[in-house]
Amino acid sequence: MCGIVGYIGEKNCVPIIINGLKRLEYRGYDSAGIALIFDHHSEVIKNKGKVSLLEDKIDSLDLSANLGIGHTRWATHGVPNEINAHPHFNTSKNLYVIHNGIIENYQTLRTGLQKLGYEFITQTDSEVLPHLIDSFLVKGHSLFKSVQLALSEVDGTYGIAVIYEKEPDKIIAARKGSPLVLGIGENENFVASDVSAIISHTKQIVYLEDGEIIQVFKNHFNAKTNLDKEVKKEIHEISMTLDEIDKGGFPHFMLKEIMEQPESVRNSMRGRILFDEGTAKLGGLENVADRLAASKRITISACGTSWHAGLVGKYMLEQFTRIPTEVEYASEFRYRNPIIEKDDAIFFISQSGETADTLAALKEAKLRGALVLGICNVVGSSIARESNAGVYTHAGPEIGVASTKAFSSQLVVLALITLLIARKKTMSLVDGKSIALELSHIPEKISEILKLNDEIEKIAEIFKDSKNFLYLGRGYNFPVALEGALKLKEISYIHAEGYPAAEMKHGPIALIDENMPVVFIAPKDSTYDKIISNIQEIKARRGRIIAIASKNDNEIDKLVDYTIKIPDTIRILMPLLTVIPLQLLAYHIAVKKGLNVDQPRNLAKSVTVE
Ligand code: M6R
Repeated sequence: MCGIVGYIGEKNCVPIIINGLKRLEYRGYDSAGIALIFDHHSEVIKNKGKVSLLEDKIDSLDLSANLGIGHTRWATHGVPNEINAHPHFNTSKNLYVIHNGIIENYQTLRTGLQKLGYEFITQTDSEVLPHLIDSFLVKGHSLFKSVQLALSEVDGTYGIAVIYEKEPDKIIAARKGSPLVLGIGENENFVASDVSAIISHTKQIVYLEDGEIIQVFKNHFNAKTNLDKEVKKEIHEISMTLDEIDKGGFPHFMLKEIMEQPESVRNSMRGRILFDEGTAKLGGLENVADRLAASKRITISACGTSWHAGLVGKYMLEQFTRIPTEVEYASEFRYRNPIIEKDDAIFFISQSGETADTLAALKEAKLRGALVLGICNVVGSSIARESNAGVYTHAGPEIGVASTKAFSSQLVVLALITLLIARKKTMSLVDGKSIALELSHIPEKISEILKLNDEIEKIAEIFKDSKNFLYLGRGYNFPVALEGALKLKEISYIHAEGYPAAEMKHGPIALIDENMPVVFIAPKDSTYDKIISNIQEIKARRGRIIAIASKNDNEIDKLVDYTIKIPDTIRILMPLLTVIPLQLLAYHIAVKKGLNVDQPRNLAKSVTVE
């Protein structure tokens, strides 16, 4: 999604902003731009496409300034082109605004401003902002006040940064529903939509809350609410390092993140397993653990891959805690007037912690008095901060748009939560201990699967030109089938569907012929015999089968075309293993098709619009 970087200080801000925008490229975007304020004038430079193209354009102009803002745009209103790219400006071209989010009442504002004589040159919703702010500036208000007044007329979501030629000592930044942070430096300060954009300059971070406006000078800052109340902001020291957000020798972030999983899942469970007691210790849930165990119902709400993790969580929680668990798309949950009882607990799962649909659903649940619990990867993210309590997944920064290590870490956290609740209920010490022990062996088993990378690459070569794929699994592996299909479609643009294996005969079987690859997730578990019957049904219709199977299963090779053999584990933890070959398969197919796996078309890493 859109990215924001701003700088005020003593250095030339051009390389700082451009490098910051490059760090935000992973979020997905289609155009970029920068506005700079010099001693007595200003410049705006924009470009369709990559930040490197913008950089070439700026390099040829040889510009240097101490105050500037830059933006990567992911189009919502208006096609991706140079004119629609941010920063947007007022008619006098001395005031510049960059905006993440959506202004819902932009048509009304636009019409009103047009009546006042303001001319619009873009198709965007964001362009109302510079004109609206300008309409207050011309009445004699300061820049800060003008931004505050303008925002009081805006419905929708925003993270904005504003600079003005006539007040060249400051950046004004504000947020409502779209993340924004301030980075504190020595004689310099930064504004960004994501800490990764400024991490190479400072680790001192201030998180803006919804409804706050901040004035950022080179040596200090002050914050107020939209209603003009002073706010005291805390400065957080963050631990993320630059190495964590580099590719570390891998050709793509996605491959790096797949390969990191033994370590990232280890980090997710580190210090959280109580082996002797056969349970988990989750500091963030300590105060609510009893209430959780007493819940009449649990709901899990999320989007995309996090929703798939939630589905696995349902299988885990219902099997071991016997608490009815529902899983709901956050975008549906919010708008359908959900039934929320006072004993309900609702988990919101999100890698980024900024997904607009999930955040909005969380706020709705909170408003209705539910216990809202976050499972997030990004520390300090909006969902983490808005939740009553929660657990961080500690997977480390995930840059590739296709979520991989975040998913496995979410599964680890869900398994730990299951252990914690189940042991407070009916799970025996023996069962708790055996799950805890098996969980601790998952990292080495993932390492074993990752050694199959070359083998999986060969299978990818065979199937790279397929037009459709079907992924089938049962029980715990049904959500993995959905996840495998999502991974493939989002980065290879091949149409793929995930189904519960037995559902196949109720419709999708009509699609089967020799051109349809079917990926079966078929480890030796209690549904193995049923899955073998499903495999026979596909084979009888000449479907081509790739099976993810247990390494001691010698029978399955006779039935299918290709097998990927993985170690065994207990059912509750099986998705942590079966998903790994599917991630690698999707990755290699996309690479072989020559596609940009880290930034697939039309997609954004963190979807901050509804
Ligand atoms: O940051 P979140 O976990 O809230 O993101 C949710 C989805 O947007 C995300 O999982 C998306 O589906 C990924 N591209 C999947 O790889």
